[in-house]
Amino acid sequence: MVSRQSAMVGTSDGTEQTMMSNRKGIVLAGGLGTRLHPLTRVTSKQLLPVYDKPMIYYSLSVLLLAGINDIVLISSPQALPQFRELLGDGSEWGIKLQYIVQANPNGIAEALILSEEHIKGQPCSLILGDNIFYGNGLTGFLHEADARTQGATVFSYRVRDPYSYGIVEIDQNGKALSIEEKPEKPKSNLAVTGLYFYDENALDIAKNITPSARGELEITAVNAEYLKRDQMYVAPLHRGFAWFDAGTIDDLMAASEFVRQIEKRQGQKICCPEEICLYREWLTDEALEIMLADRKNTEYNDYLRDLLAERQSS
Ligand code: G1P
Repeated sequence: MVSRQSAMVGTSDGTEQTMMSNRKGIVLAGGLGTRLHPLTRVTSKQLLPVYDKPMIYYSLSVLLLAGINDIVLISSPQALPQFRELLGDGSEWGIKLQYIVQANPNGIAEALILSEEHIKGQPCSLILGDNIFYGNGLTGFLHEADARTQGATVFSYRVRDPYSYGIVEIDQNGKALSIEEKPEKPKSNLAVTGLYFYDENALDIAKNITPSARGELEITAVNAEYLKRDQMYVAPLHRGFAWFDAGTIDDLMAASEFVRQIEKRQGQKICCPEEICLYREWLTDEALEIMLADRKNTEYNDYLRDLLAERQSS
């Protein structure tokens, strides 16, 4: 039988499950979500549902799949207490979660500066809380990026509308030639997704960039500095892979529908943090059983109960 985890992450290599990372994880769940008003008038975009779970579960799951279990979550002063209420200190899942306020949406690169205490002298991985990744081999790509001890790894994804993203241009060997934020004349169709692996120099680099024309500390400026040092590696997310950044109502619906279709068809969940933590052995069967004991019979909770029963019978 194909293990649940390997099917969930779309990789056929079950040996990847136990790999651990010493990287610090950062999830940036900031922004005002104005493009989603009125949905986001009283809550954060990253707390909205993507089919059967809050959006933040998907980005957190990517870090967990990478073997990262020491994570800081950054959000606005208004939204941070809601994240804390939802996720706590992570102990329920057997991981460590801490919280940092971003007082104003000053740009993605500010997440690195705000995380100084956590990432100083250490490698890190930063993910945007509205990014959703799904596809064959994801765990393998994550472990490859994690294993690279020098420089930065970004993930490219072909898009039809390159004006809305950070765009990377590569040569025939896949080596990066340029990287630009939302260019008027894009040099390629390759978007840079909101997932970044950095060595211990990211903090200093972020501290030395200046705000862009739109007044933000751009993550693209950090990546451009790595490129200048010839230390930016581009990992291509291939054809057939799914990547969404759920920033508009249509993106949100598309992501929800995508997750629904696959989960309904396969009976396996995409980006279920409890499941990933269980297979990583951060969460024990006993702890999950206790957690579920007083929970209602929702579809999500019943999925976890079935998972436990399946593990106990095998
Ligand atoms: C941000 C980054 C951009 C990246 C995108 C991915 O854009 O600035 O480089 O391609 O995330 O989601 P934003 O969503 O802030 O416009």
